[in-house]
Amino acid sequence: MVKKNLVISPTGEKENSPNIEIEIDEIELSDSIEAIHSEDIIKKVFLAPAGYPIKPFDVPNPIQVSVTDENLFQAYATEQWLGLSVKLNDYIFDQLIIPDFAFKIKKILPKKTHRIGAETKFILVQPPIRKPKFKKITFNDIIGNGQAISKAKIIVEYLKNPEIFGEWAPKNILFHGPPGTGKTLTAKAIASAAKCAFFAKKGTSLIGNHVGDGASKIHSLYNEAKSHAPAIIFIDELDSVGLSRAFQNVRGDVIEVAASLLAELDGLETSEGVITIGATNTLKLLDSGLRSRFEEEIEFPIPTVEERVDLLKLFSKKIPFEIEIDFKIIAKNTENWSGRALHEKLIKIAVHKAIQQDLKIVTTDMLMEIINQGKNNKKEQKPPSNIFT
Ligand SMILES: Nc1ncnc2c1ncn2[C@@H]1O[C@H](COP(=O)(O)OP(=O)(O)O)[C@@H](O)[C@H]1O
Ligand SMILES: [Mg+2]
Repeated sequence: MVKKNLVISPTGEKENSPNIEIEIDEIELSDSIEAIHSEDIIKKVFLAPAGYPIKPFDVPNPIQVSVTDENLFQAYATEQWLGLSVKLNDYIFDQLIIPDFAFKIKKILPKKTHRIGAETKFILVQPPIRKPKFKKITFNDIIGNGQAISKAKIIVEYLKNPEIFGEWAPKNILFHGPPGTGKTLTAKAIASAAKCAFFAKKGTSLIGNHVGDGASKIHSLYNEAKSHAPAIIFIDELDSVGLSRAFQNVRGDVIEVAASLLAELDGLETSEGVITIGATNTLKLLDSGLRSRFEEEIEFPIPTVEERVDLLKLFSKKIPFEIEIDFKIIAKNTENWSGRALHEKLIKIAVHKAIQQDLKIVTTDMLMEIINQGKNNKKEQKPPSNIFT
């Protein structure tokens, strides 16, 4: 065992001060430091961007950051956080590029370690994937709309396997047709079948209050989708951002959003596994530049009489009462009704009636009564498919 004498002067002065001599066992000391270290030093730490703790109201809070070069990030992170003691779900803050931007500790390996050492490997992960929030919808839940469904199946194949499509990859499609004809439903069915992330936005929600807001909202939407690819971006009410120039007058913010959307659509690589589905009730209102970017336009027509029979049958399966319905009669009397109108303005009202009047049955007569009431109330107005948006 090697003994070494360490001489410490309490005042720092060499002369006139009493020296204290401490004997330290060198080997034991270095051994014990080593022991603490190897037990407590983290091997891998997983960080997820968490944004700023506070921000001015009108500044977007970006939670998408990405690493440009892993070695560079490693050096950068070590320089800032070396020696920190951390545990799961702690936040650590960036001090350099984006000061006070927080990262949340998502995972530490080995689990019992706490200290960030020179060898700790930093791994940046993205926030958890947004799974579709709606219940699973299958193509069997959709009546008619054959063109949409066959295109949908190609998109599902692509989203499952983006690499094999190469330059033939589908990129974006435009759903158009009257309200309530199954556009949103079909987009959800695609996301369910592909088991991919689904980002649904209304066109109006992309228009910000300030210049640049809209552009940055669109940019972060696409970045987020790319980091969760395969993903579907569904932009409903697309006409609200892509209004034809003839209708645009001075709404600069709307033009800005449309321009950013065009840029994103043009910039998407086919290998990225991001599909954009736009939906509009009024194709004619859509800006021709924006419209031309969509590789395919799929029409969602008002259901035919046969389709109305199928829709009524489908919805009736979920009626919690006995049913005595002549589907053909009801279908014949609901010309121009959309799927949604049949669901919301007919079957739902009948079910409510059955509950209210304690009937425990839904019949053809009850449905006809609702249809005729509607006709009387709205004689002077447009057909229901255009009213109930
Ligand atoms: N073709 C259809 N097949 C099955 N259900 C439909 C269909 N069209 C409309 N519906 C019903 O109407 C509801 C609203 O449809 P939605 O997809 O939101 O219409 P859109 O997006 O075209 O306005 C659906 O949730 C569904 O209950
Ligand atoms: Mg919709």
